[in-house]
Amino acid sequence: MTNGYLFREYIGAQFTGVQFSDVPINAFVSFHFILSFAIDYTPVNQQPTPAPTNGVFSPFWDTGSLSPAAVAAIKAAHPNVAVMAGLGGDSVQDVVKAVFTPTSVDSWVANAVSSLTGIINTYRLDGVDVDYEHFAAGADVGTFVECVGRLLTELKKRMPNIATSIAPFADTEIQRYYKPLWSKYSGVIDYVNFQFYGYGDNTDVAQYVRFYDEQVGNYPGAKVLASFKTGNVTGLISPDLGVSAAKELQRQNKLPGLFIWSADSSKKSSYGFKYETEAQQIIANH
Ligand SMILES: *[C@@H]1O[C@H](CO)[C@@H](O)[C@H](O)[C@H]1NC(C)=O
Repeated sequence: MTNGYLFREYIGAQFTGVQFSDVPINAFVSFHFILSFAIDYTPVNQQPTPAPTNGVFSPFWDTGSLSPAAVAAIKAAHPNVAVMAGLGGDSVQDVVKAVFTPTSVDSWVANAVSSLTGIINTYRLDGVDVDYEHFAAGADVGTFVECVGRLLTELKKRMPNIATSIAPFADTEIQRYYKPLWSKYSGVIDYVNFQFYGYGDNTDVAQYVRFYDEQVGNYPGAKVLASFKTGNVTGLISPDLGVSAAKELQRQNKLPGLFIWSADSSKKSSYGFKYETEAQQIIANH
């Protein structure tokens, strides 16, 4: 039995060959993998660079290692595991930035609902995490709010059990898009995966807690998940600081869950999956 507290980890963006089964899974937490990413762009091997497709999503994660069969196997082995699709992300496999480029709200939503329903059914996924970090000149805040809000509303209507989240970070432009999305559509957003690892390496535990409180203020009523990254953290919050801050947030009874970017980075690192184990122990001991 899980205790309802959540651990999540992004996987599949960096093509390190990481498998779901590489990652340690604590049976006492709810565990979400987030496949990184489904993107509404044409494939990377086509003419001259990938181009936006107005809401027609395809998998751009490492589908060789993270296939429908791999999803089925990890879920069969671990009943506490669910698997999400992250939407957007920073880039299309490092070739071009992944830019939110809708032609119109109605057409983008129709394309996104139908393509994502297909991907969710093919991979037997359990939810989506909205990760757009770049916006086309014509894609104003209101357009983003309506596109994403209506997409999540429609997906929840069709599949009431899916989990939904948004993944903002501390950047004025990003917050300008995501805070109004939360204000209008919090009813269809289950978690805020706030990217705390975007803060600088001068952050200590007390400052991390202040940042956390500030983001709870920006997303009132949200289940804001703490986070840290593994791998190259030059200039950024370290995984050790992330673990210490999560322990303090838990001590203050504030922590609904925790996520890590990324399984790929951990696999490549000298310390392997040690922080995944530590992070889940924090959540499991809630
Ligand atoms: C680590 O990240 C920093 C900052 O983004 C970058 O300048 C540096 O090249 C990266 N190092 C490696 C080994 O990837």
